[in-house]
Amino acid sequence: MITFALAKGRLAEKAVALLEAAGIPCKNILEPTRKLELFSSCGGYRFIFVKPSDVPTYVEHGIADLGVCGGDTVAEENANIYLLKELPFGVCRLSLCGFPKDREKLKEQDITIATKYTGVAKRHFEKREQNVKIIKLNGSVELGPIIGLSDFILDIVETGKTLKENGLDVIEDIQDISACLVGNKVSFKVNNKEIKKLISAF
Ligand code: PRP
Repeated sequence: MITFALAKGRLAEKAVALLEAAGIPCKNILEPTRKLELFSSCGGYRFIFVKPSDVPTYVEHGIADLGVCGGDTVAEENANIYLLKELPFGVCRLSLCGFPKDREKLKEQDITIATKYTGVAKRHFEKREQNVKIIKLNGSVELGPIIGLSDFILDIVETGKTLKENGLDVIEDIQDISACLVGNKVSFKVNNKEIKKLISAF
């Protein structure tokens, strides 16, 4: 039996639509319930519903063979897993943003960055040998520069509407991201035939 780790919501709905299109009947798992472990009506697939940022953790530790999560989560968690396929939804960018007038300041030392993605920020600025202060926020990150908590933010940008309405702009794109199919490394070897079939179905 193959176990999928999914986050409830839009990504799970899209993943189920792809599986259904690939001939794996499993839309029963989207029926309203508080159960966190569900089985496809066709049998053979188990689904566990976890917090989005925990998908890579369950896959890394082999609790789930496969998982679907945002590319931002994959980048942030930096888990020891395979990125098996980038999926055609959840498309956005991880970007450094701020007030347009501060554009040049982004290259300076000792600037402050507010972000949910502290791991991505740390690795990005270490690579550039730039010393920055990183402040962790869990949401409404755009407030950082507005209220003077930070000089810039590192966040996902999808339509750019939130930035625009708050007078901010993208200063530098770090990475294009989309939803991803991720896999446990051992399971990929053990269940290779079945997982490869699923990858091409996706
Ligand atoms: C995300 C992200 C941005 C916004 C970007 O926030 O952190 O704030 O979406 O989308 P846009 O470019 O289409 O405007 P989310 O809606 O997840 O809420 P949060 O601020 O509470 O994290």
